[in-house]
Amino acid sequence: VSATAAPAGLVIVGANGRMGQSLLRVLPGFPGLRLHAALGRPGSGAAGRDSGELAGLPANGVPVSTDLAAALPGAALVLDFSVAEAAGSHVRICAAARLPLLLGATGLGPEVGRAVDEAAPHVPILVAPNTSLGATVLRELVRRAAGRLGSGYDVGIQDLHHRAKRDAPSGTALSLGAAVLEGSRTPRPVGYASLRGGEAAGQHEVCFLGEGESLRLGHNVTDRAVFARGALRAGLWLARQAPGRYEMADTIEEK
Ligand SMILES: NC(=O)c1ccc[n+]([C@@H]2O[C@H](COP(=O)([O-])OP(=O)(O)OC[C@H]3O[C@@H](n4cnc5c(N)ncnc54)[C@H](OP(=O)(O)O)[C@@H]3O)[C@@H](O)[C@H]2O)c1
Repeated sequence: VSATAAPAGLVIVGANGRMGQSLLRVLPGFPGLRLHAALGRPGSGAAGRDSGELAGLPANGVPVSTDLAAALPGAALVLDFSVAEAAGSHVRICAAARLPLLLGATGLGPEVGRAVDEAAPHVPILVAPNTSLGATVLRELVRRAAGRLGSGYDVGIQDLHHRAKRDAPSGTALSLGAAVLEGSRTPRPVGYASLRGGEAAGQHEVCFLGEGESLRLGHNVTDRAVFARGALRAGLWLARQAPGRYEMADTIEEK
């Protein structure tokens, strides 16, 4: 007789934001996960309100709370889609509680990178500026193109996002730029251009501009549920891993 494993307790940080609400809406499609806690900004007007209702769902009985450390006992996995400014502290709190963390917030400074390095020996931690499958594969293609085309091609990366996005270039654009450097033999300049406006969930294009030809590799997300499902899938994967620092490419399998 095999016992069915209980769903893993999920903590969503930034639960009242665009991504947080999208995560709450797609969560019912993931029977391996149950909502354990929904975190909002300390001082937020959403505190104490039912997180399901805030996402336009039936009440789920999990109110928005604001003390991450206090919310962690009994949880199995944390997804952080809040703000860069709070990410370093969230990393340290999750590491102290020995809980796997998917860091989806972007615009992260070097201080967060150091916090991640310090946390990685103790917990599985996934820095994921873009949790979509398409952007994860795009990164691999860009690395390959950079190596094949070489320094005779100039590289420019453009991102288009909704008007409320705080960071520019986007975390995805910077990650694609890093992929260009990973694929290049020598350091090379990468240009960035960011457009902000309307409601675009996330559009990226990497242009390799040569003499007489150009190669453009792009990706477009029309529904942020794509990020949310990708994050829950990657989170389930992360919760099974040994401590260490991971990236989205580690989480996908060949089909
Ligand atoms: N990895 C990916 O695939 C992906 C995809 C899309 C977006 N993102 C990134 O995810 C982050 C969130 O994006 P979004 O569009 O959902 O932004 P958003 O709508 O502004 O949501 C952020 C939420 O975090 C809350 N918050 C702020 N400080 C907090 C704290 N210290 N603790 C807990 N919650 C806090 C905010 O509350 P208040 O509104 O009350 O301040 C807000 O509800 C951004 O960094 C964005 O770039 C990543």
